Amino acid sequence: MKPIPTVTLRRLEKAARAAARKSYSPYSKFAVGAAVLTGSGKIYPGCNVENASYGLCNCAERTAIFSAVAAGEKTLRAVAVFTPTPEPTMPCGACRQVINEFGPRAEIVSVCASKQRITTTLDALLPAAFGPEDLG
Ligand code: THU
Repeated sequence: MKPIPTVTLRRLEKAARAAARKSYSPYSKFAVGAAVLTGSGKIYPGCNVENASYGLCNCAERTAIFSAVAAGEKTLRAVAVFTPTPEPTMPCGACRQVINEFGPRAEIVSVCASKQRITTTLDALLPAAFGPEDLG
């Protein structure tokens, strides 16, 4: 797979930052934004969407992924996530598993309220993942 140009990753990061402004997070007050770069080269944003029944809260990453899949996309090349924190944070375990389904080798870019960023890969965050191929 060709490396993703830095300018594309910066566009993805910008989309994640913008998506956080749409967050529905009245309970945690933790506004998260995400954006995914798909195999077709398109970018899909997402935000966290909370619920009065707390267990139904959906992370920004999964909102973005489900939106991409609903638009007909089946592969993820990169996922950017913005959290309103002084340091970057990593996607939660549930989101790692969902990213694995569509982008087992996806790049992950985490950005935050400061200039810090962490770039890693899904397989570094979820080694030996259970995935579609394990179902035979
Ligand atoms: N959250 C995300 O949307 N993505 C993350 O990577 C971390 C956590 C959301 C879930 C919940 O709405 C709020 O942040 C607090 O956990």
